[in-house]
Amino acid sequence: MTIRKRPLGTLGVEITGIDVGSDLTGSAGDNLFGELRQAWQEAGGLMVIRDQSITQEQHIEFSRRFGPLFHDEGQPPLQDTVSRYLHPVHPQIYRVSNKVDAQGESQGRARAGTYWHSDVSFRDRPAQASVLYAIEIPPYGGDTIFADMAAAYDALSDGMKAMLSGLKAVHDFAVAAATQYARPIVVDKDFNGANRCVHPVVRTHAETGRKSLYVNPGFTSHLEGFTMEESKAILDTLYRHATQPEFLYRHSWQPHDLLVWDNRQLMHYAVSDYSADRYMERTTVIGERPV
Ligand code: OGA
Ligand code: MN
Repeated sequence: MTIRKRPLGTLGVEITGIDVGSDLTGSAGDNLFGELRQAWQEAGGLMVIRDQSITQEQHIEFSRRFGPLFHDEGQPPLQDTVSRYLHPVHPQIYRVSNKVDAQGESQGRARAGTYWHSDVSFRDRPAQASVLYAIEIPPYGGDTIFADMAAAYDALSDGMKAMLSGLKAVHDFAVAAATQYARPIVVDKDFNGANRCVHPVVRTHAETGRKSLYVNPGFTSHLEGFTMEESKAILDTLYRHATQPEFLYRHSWQPHDLLVWDNRQLMHYAVSDYSADRYMERTTVIGERPV
């Protein structure tokens, strides 16, 4: 079998000609997965696999090839506030959807991620990969935008790189409460630091050795050892820099797209510009502690 690859901007690759539900079994499957993983990393951290028809079990199995998942046995859960959006049978699956069932119960977290962020950056071991499967998409809108934080780092001046070297940032899920979008889902536990941690501002990728900016407006609270005002000035400069169009790829979803993104080197933003139904399912691979 030959898989086809088409580059997407500076940060991704589109894959066609593969069925992840059936082509990844056995030792041939190991080789094929190796090829996918390599293409994913060489491309810069986003892989768009088209036309997949997979069950929830197959989605989970595929995702586990990247590493253990949040909610796998013996692994930590995602933050409490999203527990009501998890699939009732497969808690590894986080439902991202604006849909409401006949009883008025929401079928997922509506408009999750309508802000620049890197998944779960507020944990000591944040997300490595997120694997998001599009089951229902609106006729127009609901794109997801990705920002290349490795390219953004590379493009900084030597002066800025030197200044950032060794700096640490506090990531805190409760910070999301400061802005409208997440206010209803932040709970007391979060304010008490259940989802707060410290990471280097520049992290080195465990597989490629490439450096990336690792701060995001969604969850980064401030730079350790700086005043909030100083911190805001520096972080805002970095965010403005990293979200220039040259560092972005905007994904217009097709039904049955399966996206894998590397949270260690990308931020993403869910564009909330639609009213029709949108239903997606995400698994989240646990990564290493950033260094
Ligand atoms: C996510 C997320 C983006 C989207 O699932 O982590 O941010 O477009 N979703 O739904
Ligand atoms: Mn997200």
